[in-house]
Amino acid sequence: MAPPSATSSSSFSLVLSLLSLSLLTLENLSLVAARAVAEEYRVVSADSLIPATVCSAQKAASPSKLIVVHRRGPCSPLSRKSDPSHADLLRHDQARVDSINRLPAAVAGSLATTLPVTPGIALGVGNYIVSIGLGTPRKDFSVVFDTGSDLTWIQCNPCQSCYSQQDPIFDPAQSTTYANISCSSSFCNELDDRSCSSSSTCQYSVRYGDQSQTNGSFVQDTLTVAGDEIAGFRYGCGHQNSGLFGRADGLLGLGREPVSLVVQTGQKYGMVFSYCLPPRSNGTGYLTLGGSGGAAREIQYTPLLTNPKLPTFYFVKLVDIAVGGQRLGIPPAVFSASQGAIVDSGTVITRLPPAAYDQLRRKFQQLMPSYPRAPALSILDTCYDFTGRQTVSVPAVALVFDGGLTANLDFKGIIYVANVSQACLAFAGNDDPADLLIVGNVQQRTFNVVYDLASLRIGFGPNGC
Ligand SMILES: *[C@@H]1O[C@H](CO)[C@@H](O)[C@H](O)[C@H]1NC(C)=O
Ligand SMILES: *[C@@H]1O[C@H](CO)[C@@H](O)[C@H](O)[C@H]1NC(C)=O
Ligand SMILES: *[C@@H]1O[C@H](CO)[C@@H](O)[C@H](O)[C@H]1NC(C)=O
Ligand SMILES: *[C@@H]1O[C@H](CO)[C@@H](O)[C@H](O)[C@H]1NC(C)=O
Repeated sequence: MAPPSATSSSSFSLVLSLLSLSLLTLENLSLVAARAVAEEYRVVSADSLIPATVCSAQKAASPSKLIVVHRRGPCSPLSRKSDPSHADLLRHDQARVDSINRLPAAVAGSLATTLPVTPGIALGVGNYIVSIGLGTPRKDFSVVFDTGSDLTWIQCNPCQSCYSQQDPIFDPAQSTTYANISCSSSFCNELDDRSCSSSSTCQYSVRYGDQSQTNGSFVQDTLTVAGDEIAGFRYGCGHQNSGLFGRADGLLGLGREPVSLVVQTGQKYGMVFSYCLPPRSNGTGYLTLGGSGGAAREIQYTPLLTNPKLPTFYFVKLVDIAVGGQRLGIPPAVFSASQGAIVDSGTVITRLPPAAYDQLRRKFQQLMPSYPRAPALSILDTCYDFTGRQTVSVPAVALVFDGGLTANLDFKGIIYVANVSQACLAFAGNDDPADLLIVGNVQQRTFNVVYDLASLRIGFGPNGC
């Protein structure tokens, strides 16, 4: 079949947009919703946009799944007294993105000499947490999980400096399975930044890009996750910790380097894990080790790529974006100018090359029913006021990856709702066309996201949670 000529395809889409515009002027959104195919618009009731205050968590469907909750939501076990504002959260998110782009190895030539080199990624605050057990007898801890970090750590006694956390601090002396790792052990070489104590035990140190830090002993103990006991799990027992951890007890590293949980448990779980991030803060998702969370036949995959300069991260190839059921046809050069695309659990908002974001925003605004605009919210510049509506309808957005994976985003993966009067397109453009494309956790909501290091592929399945 011959491809349509440029003229005929653009006049075709012009007719389409005129058609949708005239339908929309009827101001009858339910009519539009009824006529539109599922992929053209996402319609939700306005009630569902009101922030939840009560947790409606359901029991874990299977004991092999860890329950995932949003750190800021009513299901979080952590105190929410000092929750950051939306603007603060988005500012921290930008700090994480900046720090990933500035990781020393990621910076090409001349840039490296002009930018302050930060020691690591920023942790961010828009994260999801799970509960893990450590030691014998087991103690439970709420930790942030992060696909952009490798080392797992928790705050530990003796605490030379610790920030305040929800649970009692882990005391190695109370665990019969705890052991130090000696400096001569090959395990000590797994650390990027290590040193040796006077008693020849291996010490680790991590400085994150937002000035958060953790220092302490690199140790081993029994880890309990999803009902499984993993003997001799290696992690950081943090004796000096400071920064913006928001009362989480520590961090679970799900990156790709040897010290990460995924690689350490590779024999047991086959280097596969999956998670689902709940669309609403009052709901729960899951983290599954060793399996692909949801119904296998519904999962579509894209190849998992590796960037030797950023070995922790999960790289993929985005090839296009669809808005309102139609692909934008973003030129491949826009994507190849970027240093690559990563899927990250710790970045909130998806970052696109500037030209890709421009095309997305233009099409989205064109197809957006006539809601009044609202002021920009930090990095989000396309915001709307949904006050007084019963239902809200927005153009569907899908991410199209190499190899045929099309991820049709949930409403909550398209719109970041600060409140009903300020709800924004949840994407941002990078300043520099060479910066990394990052698929953030807002866009991943509701999907069963599968990280398969054995078969080198990343999958997205619908209706994960
Ligand atoms: C919380 O979640 C349930 C679904 O699990 C939903 O029906 C309810 O409206 C939600 N909202 C609030 C404000 O709790
Ligand atoms: C581990 O090493 C620390 C010193 O770094 C020491 O105080 C502690 O007793 C050691 N624990 C065990 C179980 O060997
Ligand atoms: C961690 O150790 C480094 C030196 O190894 C030190 O400069 C830093 O202050 C320590 N961090 C904390 C929180 O004590
Ligand atoms: C909505 O959120 C924005 C940003 O947090 C805030 O400036 C605005 O006052 C809020 N509006 C209402 C009605 O709460």
